[in-house]
Amino acid sequence: MKRTHTCASLRAKDEGKEVSLVGWVHRRRDHGGLIFIDLRDRTGLIQIVFQADSSDLHKQAEKLRPEFVIHIKGKVAKRAPEAHNKNLLTGEVEVFVTFLEILNTAKTPPFEISNDRQDVDEMTRLKYRYLDLRRDKMRENLVFRHKVVMAAREYLDKNGFLDIETPFLTKSTPEGARDYLVPSRVNPGKFYALPQSPQLFKQILMVAGMDRYYQVARCFRDEDLRADRQPEFTQIDLEMSFVDVQDIIDLIEGLMKHTLDTLEKDIDQYRGKHIPKINLPFPRLTWDEAMDRFGTDKPDTRFGLELVDISDLVKDSEFKVFSSVIKDGGCVKLINAKGAAAFSRNEIDHLEEEAKKMGAKGLAWIAITAEGLKSPLLKFLKPEEVQDIIQRAGGDHGDILFFGAGKRTQVCDVLGGIRLILGKKLNLIPENEFHFCWVTDFPLFEYSETEKRWVSRHHPFTAPQCSWDDLEERFKKDPSVMKAKAYDFVLNGVEIGGGSIRIHQMEAQRQVFKILGFSDEEAKRRFGFLLEAFEYGAPPHGGVALGLDRLVMMLAGMDSIRDVIAFPKTQSAVCQMTGAPDVVDDRQLKELNIKLA
Ligand code: AMO
Ligand code: AMP
Repeated sequence: MKRTHTCASLRAKDEGKEVSLVGWVHRRRDHGGLIFIDLRDRTGLIQIVFQADSSDLHKQAEKLRPEFVIHIKGKVAKRAPEAHNKNLLTGEVEVFVTFLEILNTAKTPPFEISNDRQDVDEMTRLKYRYLDLRRDKMRENLVFRHKVVMAAREYLDKNGFLDIETPFLTKSTPEGARDYLVPSRVNPGKFYALPQSPQLFKQILMVAGMDRYYQVARCFRDEDLRADRQPEFTQIDLEMSFVDVQDIIDLIEGLMKHTLDTLEKDIDQYRGKHIPKINLPFPRLTWDEAMDRFGTDKPDTRFGLELVDISDLVKDSEFKVFSSVIKDGGCVKLINAKGAAAFSRNEIDHLEEEAKKMGAKGLAWIAITAEGLKSPLLKFLKPEEVQDIIQRAGGDHGDILFFGAGKRTQVCDVLGGIRLILGKKLNLIPENEFHFCWVTDFPLFEYSETEKRWVSRHHPFTAPQCSWDDLEERFKKDPSVMKAKAYDFVLNGVEIGGGSIRIHQMEAQRQVFKILGFSDEEAKRRFGFLLEAFEYGAPPHGGVALGLDRLVMMLAGMDSIRDVIAFPKTQSAVCQMTGAPDVVDDRQLKELNIKLA
């Protein structure tokens, strides 16, 4: 081993020690013949000094450029107090170099490693990811991610969970997104699918009596990508036998508490701010409540501006925009933007544009100003109606009410989105607080406009809240009101986890497949192994999966999961560094029996 110390480990107490260090040239300054180098390794920086003289050593040091890899030996000295660097852990010392070996040279990097704040185009960062990862922030992100995983493993191990791997080459089963397929050479015409999650295997592990399973599992989904979606991502995935919803919720709350307590110092240091401790239990909202109050199933509970329903107040109004949507089974809701009555016409128009982008026909408003009410609605609504609405909204001088009228889901989408915009605009969102919550009692089914049929909201293995003997009758009556034993875990408005209690009886599972429109034959072909396993004493079970990338992103205060993944893909699912996906040799295709159209 060439080194005696890592760069950031030296302190004043090491004065006089002969040390041997390795690392990268981070920055170089010349001062009247003295050459100062900040030497960097994974742990951080130390200043090393080449004295002004005409020795070979000094001549060699003149050759050093950023990102050269070097090995030095030297003596630790205390810096004069006025030369202390408070920004460095090693800021009270420096090393006077007596030996230098250049281990490797480096081309001038396409962006400065030493300048964290430099705005570098993301495509360049991804192409030269090994350089990007040398930068402080990115290195810290990976270290932090590692610590989150270690804390989770520690907690799950203590709670009796076994880390068991499940296959990547598996069978295609529907779970929402499109599968990534892998052709089988030895079984021409047949394909494996990469797992969208270990869902069925973890359930089978419960049948196998493993009782408590977890895995830091890679998942693959061919879906449209966004800042918080990658084609391959990681879950902290787990499953437990003999449990109900409350047990899973307790377990995850314990996991979060353990993780945040373990990483408290890291998180505070990282965000440069003390993050208030979290309190258990986390708030719980039913899905209906979340939609009614926040317009979304992943509410950002860091601020108010909740939605208020006024359908009953305007159902007979002469303002047809309101009354007609209610006659058609829709609703009218509003948000009271407290203290925002002074918004300019421009600002209001801009909000209306945003609402329209989200699918609204308009964004009616009433401003309660010192000079009285201002609104395009005053000519349509009766004064009593306006008064009732203002009272329901808790409206006061200085407030402005924004209205959404239409189908329930659309009003929720639009006002839920407008709420987030207003929260930011009015500076209501505390950036450095963690507000976790659970959303429970999800609908069991939802109608798919593309498939023109009812599909599982979570996945077809999710247990209904009702007993399964009258499942079919209830479905025939009204699928939209059937609820599942399913829950999502939300942090500051981002869905960071989801799970459910599962169906564990073969007959119940068969019924759900039937309801979903799988014939007995198809169910057998696709899920026969699961149905069969259920015939051999499957225990009641349930589980959850946390999106690790999203969790780390949120705890670290990043805007994109790409910043907490070592080698992420672009929006178009391309690896900018390796160039994957790429064309392959004709010979490979031939072997796989594949012809390109
Ligand atoms: P679900 O599909 O809700 O559940 O996924 C669980 C969590 O994984 C994260 N996630 C993603 N993160 C990054 N990129 C993606 N493309 C992506 N898709 C999902 C989210 C989400 O909450 N098998 C079930 C879990 C269970 O029932 O136990 C499942 O996969 O944070
Ligand atoms: P109109 O009569 O279409 O000019 O609309 C009058 C006001 O109602 C305008 O401020 C529109 O932005 C608003 N508006 C129209 N349709 C809706 C709707 N579905 N939801 C909320 N506001 C609407």
